[in-house]
Amino acid sequence: MAPQLDGFFAQVDSLSDHFIDRLRKAVAIPSVSADPARRPDVVRMGHFLKDELEALGASVELRQLGKQPDIPSLDLPPAILARYGSDKNKRTILVYGHYDVQPAEKSDGWATEPFDLTVGEDGRMFGRGSTDDKGPVLGWLNAIEAHQKAGIDFPVNLLMCFEGMEEYGSEGLDDLIEAEGKRFFADADAVCISDNYWLGTEKPCLTYGLRGCNYYSVEISGPGADLHSGVFGGTAQEPMTDLVRVLATLVDTDGKIQIPGIAEQVAPVTEDEATLYDGISFEMETLHESLGSKTTIFEDKKSTLMARWRYPSLSIHGVEGAFSAPGAKTVIPAKVIGKFSIRTVPNMEIEKTNELVYKYVKEQFAKLGSKNTLKVYAQHTGKWWVASPKHWNFAAAAKATERVWGVQPDFTREGGSIPVTLTFEQATGKNVLLLPMGSSTDGAHSINEKLDKKNYIEGIKLLGSYLHYVAEEPMSE
Ligand code: BES
Ligand code: MN
Ligand code: MN
Repeated sequence: MAPQLDGFFAQVDSLSDHFIDRLRKAVAIPSVSADPARRPDVVRMGHFLKDELEALGASVELRQLGKQPDIPSLDLPPAILARYGSDKNKRTILVYGHYDVQPAEKSDGWATEPFDLTVGEDGRMFGRGSTDDKGPVLGWLNAIEAHQKAGIDFPVNLLMCFEGMEEYGSEGLDDLIEAEGKRFFADADAVCISDNYWLGTEKPCLTYGLRGCNYYSVEISGPGADLHSGVFGGTAQEPMTDLVRVLATLVDTDGKIQIPGIAEQVAPVTEDEATLYDGISFEMETLHESLGSKTTIFEDKKSTLMARWRYPSLSIHGVEGAFSAPGAKTVIPAKVIGKFSIRTVPNMEIEKTNELVYKYVKEQFAKLGSKNTLKVYAQHTGKWWVASPKHWNFAAAAKATERVWGVQPDFTREGGSIPVTLTFEQATGKNVLLLPMGSSTDGAHSINEKLDKKNYIEGIKLLGSYLHYVAEEPMSE
């Protein structure tokens, strides 16, 4: 029987300004996990969520996760564990999200203040974290509130786990999830994560796979201090020269990873899988729009989706210690740290991949015959995850999507990573579903990140109705 949802939907609509205000308050807290100077703001964001949840009647614990491994003087922000409802006759759903955000400065090229939610006439709501992941996290709180105000019984017991270090590799959270798998999370019947995006701008999707992410540093040092290139140029071996030569050997222009042994670990394409891409609604045009250019490696949808979902990729992110300001400084940097990451896929193994990377980087450096010193190490690693979408958790989400958006969702995988997804699956032994709120043009991690008002408001309805459908869905599959 289809759940009665009209009262809930009407309540969400009438509370929409209030919900946008809540998002505005959250965006105003610059909870940038990568910036040690912003750590108090990340903690403040955690407390904001705790207060909001308690005001809604949830019981909330802040869990300290210890110190940050690479900066031992710095406390990690707390994980929030919350429970709303404990009715033995209801199912229990565990949801996860993150309250930290990527860095953002107006000077990066934002058209508006990044931490000041700016709602345009067209309904686009600009602000750092609007789509990744504050909008979706607040979606769960808003769904609770709309039920209360509409006087509708909440359909499930809701367990919530919100963290403040996701954008930095979910430092410290794996241990907590493993420890709580059979304690705080013990009652969970299924898991839902809202922290990804539609593939395009029109069609909703349900997501059953993510790539993993291994993040590496290559450090090259030699001189004792930065040097004058007029005095020392031509007489000293330069770390930056060595580094760009090493980085240049990692990947080619068409994205082909040059490290031997990586491609060999990738699961072959089965016949079933090969037929699945044609049915996915995905336009190269929309991709070009979100990319902001037409510089794609592939011209066709299938190769593009496969490259994003099921093949590994290697990206070079930056160089710490390099001269990067405008102008023309004639410096020889004494020590530079190149940063790159590999997105991993089935059946790549973290340790094996690390060993292949270390070996290759060291070999490439050795070929240079440089007297400088090289170190290569992983900053963080996170596993890939692929689940079965043939599960009642997905069936319920599909019905909710159809109810709210009037279309059947595509079943998709994604190229991004949420390091704890597999940890939740393993620690609870339950099915994990990714249920996105935002769309492909939201620009997570980019300048002018936004969430469309329509996606936020309908997304709240989606999360709420998912809980109704998942409460009723037969558990058979
Ligand atoms: N929300 C993203 C993950 C994501 C991105 C899912 C795109 C699906 C599509 C998440 O906040 C994120 O950015 N994760 C990081 C993890 C990394 C630091 C290990 C990422 O993917 O870079
Ligand atoms: Mn996210
Ligand atoms: Mn992110």
